[in-house]
Amino acid sequence: MNFFLINIIKFLAIFSSISILISCDKNISDEEKVNSLLEKMTLAEKVGQLNQFNGGWYSTGPISSDNEYNNKRVNGLRNGSVGSMLNVTSVEATKEAQRIAVEESRLGIPLLFAYDVIHGFQTMFPIPLGEAASWDLEMIERNARIAAIEASAAGLHWTFAPMVDIGRDPRFGRVMEGAGEDPFLGSVVAKARVRGFQGEDLSEKDTIAATAKHFAGYGFVEAGRDYNTVDVSNSTLWNVILPPFKAAAEEGVATFMNAFNDFDGVPATGSHFLQNDILKNRWNFNGVVVSDWDSIGEMEEHGYSSDLSDAARQAINSGNDIDMESAAYLDHLEDLINTGQVTESRLNDAVSRVLHLKLKLGLFEDPYHYSDLKREKKMIGHLDHLNAARDSARKSAVLLKNDGILPLSKNNQIIGVIGPLANDKDSPLGNWRARAIPNSAVSLLEGVNAAVKNSENVIYSQGASLGISSRGFAIPLELNTTDRSGFQEAIQTAQKSDVVILCLGEDAYQSGEGRSRTKLELSGLQKELFYAIKEVNDNIVLVLMSGRPLVIGDLVDNSKAVLQAWHAGSEAGHGISDVLFGDYNPSGKLPMSFPHNVGQLPLYYNQKNTGRPGPGGDVFWSHYNDSPNEALFPFGFGLSYTTFDYSDLKINNTTPKIGDDILVSFNLTNAGNREGAEVAQLYIRDRVASNIRPLKELKGFKKIRLEPGESKLVTFTLNQESLGFYSSNGEFLVESGDFDVFVGGNSKETLKMSFKLED
Ligand code: NOJ
Repeated sequence: MNFFLINIIKFLAIFSSISILISCDKNISDEEKVNSLLEKMTLAEKVGQLNQFNGGWYSTGPISSDNEYNNKRVNGLRNGSVGSMLNVTSVEATKEAQRIAVEESRLGIPLLFAYDVIHGFQTMFPIPLGEAASWDLEMIERNARIAAIEASAAGLHWTFAPMVDIGRDPRFGRVMEGAGEDPFLGSVVAKARVRGFQGEDLSEKDTIAATAKHFAGYGFVEAGRDYNTVDVSNSTLWNVILPPFKAAAEEGVATFMNAFNDFDGVPATGSHFLQNDILKNRWNFNGVVVSDWDSIGEMEEHGYSSDLSDAARQAINSGNDIDMESAAYLDHLEDLINTGQVTESRLNDAVSRVLHLKLKLGLFEDPYHYSDLKREKKMIGHLDHLNAARDSARKSAVLLKNDGILPLSKNNQIIGVIGPLANDKDSPLGNWRARAIPNSAVSLLEGVNAAVKNSENVIYSQGASLGISSRGFAIPLELNTTDRSGFQEAIQTAQKSDVVILCLGEDAYQSGEGRSRTKLELSGLQKELFYAIKEVNDNIVLVLMSGRPLVIGDLVDNSKAVLQAWHAGSEAGHGISDVLFGDYNPSGKLPMSFPHNVGQLPLYYNQKNTGRPGPGGDVFWSHYNDSPNEALFPFGFGLSYTTFDYSDLKINNTTPKIGDDILVSFNLTNAGNREGAEVAQLYIRDRVASNIRPLKELKGFKKIRLEPGESKLVTFTLNQESLGFYSSNGEFLVESGDFDVFVGGNSKETLKMSFKLED
């Protein structure tokens, strides 16, 4: 038989078996298709659909045949005991694993391939906290779209993003992965990212399923220590933690991931309250809930489950559908069904959620739908994607201080580029870098060289390295605290320079999962380097690359300008230079408060008034004896090379009734002499409520571009959703009474008016 014929037969064999399993007839509902497949499945095959295995071993090539671990997994594909995999990427690898599942397993049910595509696949965008600083929802959606295009071109169907955990404590390294401290901003960003990943139709071959994670409370790990316990009130749960999850669910997110932490004494993975009561019943979520990595197994460590079988029972009964990597379902679920500890109807429900997702992704029609070598080659790292990355890097940068030194001139001056991160081509890629090519980012030095007219005017010294040991995703970074051998050269560079761009902050692997910190000042020798430079050159422009707000007060005082640039992605150096040299007028605003010191944490703008807000003449009011209460830089703060004036705040009705919309308007004027964009923000305060409301709550924002001297009338509508809040048992209430309305360019400096909401 010739090769061609063999392939045709193979093709027919695959498709005939699949079409027997699930009809592709458009007249048959998905429900009927799934039910008819469920009838054909054995108990073991059903359990298999709920088992997700790590396949990192597959992503780099064929597996070794004598490796027991690998064999178990490949055999799992053959015997239908694996329904999805994570960490298998590339068309070649996913296609081969899919082939085994589809051709060699009894029912040939296609696999799902999932991966942490958090801020890009190969083309890296700014870390999500940085993206959120753009307050540019179109940009954020576009970036997720591009990430989906690249990921799907590498054979992937599913990303474990967006992380929508609210972050109030920068000690927690994972604040880099979220949209910051505010539930309103977090909700609209969550929606934008879900839309971007999932597009209009999941069956398109460039869209992927998204995941809202980590459900719920993970952003509130005590003292910012990763994987720690969470202890928050129900009021905080409903009003702060849940809104972005609800928003993602409303946007149609395909999956949820639960969390490592416990909530109210119950591991989130085993929480009936979170997963069944809230997510699946109250919100009617009909997608898939996946555990976090081994979080079913970890219920034993939590002290909630007596053994792995107990954990499997608790997890599935409380709404967890897929088991990622703990093999708890694989090893125990059949038994639990046979002994009646888990009902078959619950099993069928979980399996049907997974099958529905596979159907929606078009995998039953064509399991190799995403396996297109040509597309993989063409789309990954596409030039348009790099351009988008540059656009994002500049829009995400937040100008924290400028005494007028910025923007820098491109001519006639010597520019010293100094610092451990100044020519780092790796850190800008950030922590969750998927398949970014190591050291592929445009460094700041490269960006500055490309921007200036004559690159001979740019001189560089590293000064000191950040770490002395090799860094990596799973390896702790050993900081350089001793090697000052580069200091002298850096000092000479600073002496020769008219202006110094000093690039300090965090290595990519100083923030992210497992990277909690108790000290948030610049680590290693960075501060020492800063002051050594300062001694010889006062013209310091400090560029901070970090995955979180750092403690930088003294450095701000001693710099002429400070730009918070985050880990800004593949095009970091170009994007940051666009801002430094004025090719782009900065427009970013902080999505998280910057503290004066670690002792203030957790710190967030939407705090409550307390019973003793002060300031009082004595000591008996809510304050510190050694620190301000307020942030160094508040939520929503960010400067521009122009200035914006807010005036003529008006409310259309100062005695509205419950149910009425309230129109808020004001004039925004570009009072400077450069075109620029301002993120105009709207806050409210509900002055008296049955559950205390914060001093300010963001309820709207608009990013508005204005020519020099131009004014615009800006309007917002406050509706019932904006005015209401959740009681401690999750009831949404709108209560009459006095409200304040604030508008401004950050959460602190605002215009204010009031109205009385009447019954
Ligand atoms: C653990 C992380 O908490 C989660 O966010 C991630 O998706 C999984 N690992 C899979 O890598």
